[in-house]
This record gives sequence, C-alpha cells and structure tokens, in this order.
Amino acid sequence: MMNAMTHAKSLTREVILDIQGATKHFGGLVAVNDVSFKVDKGHVFGLIGPNGAGKSTLFNLVTGVLAPSAGEIGFADRSMLKAPLHRRSALGMARTFQIVRVFPGLTVLENVMMGFHHQLIDGILPSLLRAVQVMRTERALREKGRELLAFVGLAERADELVEHLPHGQLRLLEIARALASEPHLLLLDEPAAGLNDGETRHLGALIAKLNQQNALTILLVEHNIDFMMGLCDRIAVLDHGCKIAEGTPCEIQADEKVIEAYLGRGASHAQG
Ligand SMILES: Nc1ncnc2c1ncn2[C@@H]1O[C@H](COP(=O)(O)OP(=O)(O)OP(=O)(O)O)[C@@H](O)[C@H]1O
Ligand SMILES: [Mg+2]
Repeated sequence: MMNAMTHAKSLTREVILDIQGATKHFGGLVAVNDVSFKVDKGHVFGLIGPNGAGKSTLFNLVTGVLAPSAGEIGFADRSMLKAPLHRRSALGMARTFQIVRVFPGLTVLENVMMGFHHQLIDGILPSLLRAVQVMRTERALREKGRELLAFVGLAERADELVEHLPHGQLRLLEIARALASEPHLLLLDEPAAGLNDGETRHLGALIAKLNQQNALTILLVEHNIDFMMGLCDRIAVLDHGCKIAEGTPCEIQADEKVIEAYLGRGASHAQG
C-alpha cells in the first residue's frame, strides 16, 4: 500500500460507492431520509451536518452495522444489501468510530494486528509445518503492523499498552488498524473530534497523504469545516436526515441552505 502512486482525479470517473434513496427509520424517527450520492474512486468525500443529522447512521448503513429501511447501497458494482459486515470488510471497506474503540490489555502493535484478522490463519494446528507457517505469517504481520504505525507517526509507541496512549494517538491507532485490512474505501467518523490544533493538522496531512499516495477513497464525517474544505473533493450536507446540498467545498460554503442549516450556527456548534 506504500507505492508512490499519483492519480488524476478529474480525468477518470469511476464510482466506488453508490448510495440510492438510503432511508433508516428508528420507530417514528427518520434518521436517514431518502439520501442519494455517489463517491468516485480516489476522492475524499465529506459528509457534514448538525448533530443528529444522520451522518453516523448513514455510515452504519454503508458498513452494514444497520440494515436500511429502504434504498440501495452499491459498493464496487455490487449491491451490499445482503452483504454482512465481514463480507464488506473482505471487499475492501474499513472504518473508524466516532468514539474510539480499542482492545484494552493489548499493546499498540497488537491492536493494529487485530485489523489483519481476515489474513490470519485460524483453526487448530494439524501439524508442525502449519505451526511454522503460522509463526512466519505472524512475524510478517508484526512487521507490517510496525510499518503502519510508522506511517501514522506512532512507531515508538508500538510496544506500549494501548491504555497508555493519549486520545489523539488513539485516533491515529484506529486509522492504522483500519489500514491493516488494505481497504479500497476508508470511512472516518469524526476523526478530529477531541484533537488539538497540532494533532488536527497532522491528521489532515495524513488523510491527504493516504488519498494522494495510495489513491485511497475516503468518506469523511467531520464538524470542523476548515478541516473539510482543504481536504474534500466533494461534500454532501445532511440536515434532519435529508441531503440538503452536495457539491465542491466552494459550492457548499456559498449555499444558502447550508449556511442556514449549519454554517450559520457557527462557533456555537457542539462536537458530537
Ligand atoms: N440506534 C438508534 N436507535 C434510535 N435512534 C437512533 C439510533 N441511532 C441514532 N439514532 C437517532 O438518529 C438520529 C441521527 O443520529 P446520528 O448519530 O446518525 O447523527 P449524527 O449526524 O452522526 O450526529 P452527531 O454529529 O451528533 O454524531 C438522531 O436523532 C439519533 O438520536
Ligand atoms: Mg455521528
């Protein structure tokens, strides 16, 4: 995944994620209401909207944590409606969570290695040969885990217990773990939440590098508008479950509906 690949975003258009009429009801509440958009391969696509707009629910529909009440989710030209979580992961989706999730009691490196799970040989060992094979695989995965930690800037913390990491570094660890599965689509739910200015800049540079060097497609939810403006190729805006706008960052910033629903609320907006 570290091949220095550059790509011309505007020359080719290939849709990797195709959301059509996605709807999710929770009892009487319509959390996601008939939302459609397409994400092009190699793009950073942003999702913004006030608290409770339905952003995380939409992530859960895409990744398969929740089934939509209606609509279609297409990924890499396949319908995902019947694909369980692990199938979507095997096809190349990986995500991080709005609230950091790590495995306590394990080291930072071991936490990253949890992201390799579908590559690990499992089951009972039938022979010594198999045991040697497992050890080799494990050694290779450890090395790869260290590479990923170096990539996000956590190399020197690899052997510490995950409990010792401050919040900002846990966010980076989650990204390293998501990258372990070598995804084609990386979904980041508020990766900058709780980060200070320096950490946010580092994260922004990291996301840009992942996108540019590895042509990784990224779907990004974030409240920090400045952060989004510099990173995203396109942005969709949700409000009360509905998509109220979609366009380039410049178009979004100038959109009356967006200013009314979201940007106008300005600095008072809470981090969810
Ligand atoms: N599992 C659930 N059961 C019932 N209601 C839910 C559930 N998950 C989300 N909701 C509701 O759906 C709406 C959308 O929530 P969601 O978490 O998707 O918003 P969000 O845009 O991610 O907000 P935030 O910016 O605060 O993270 C909210 O009104 C929320 O309370
Ligand atoms: Mg959310």
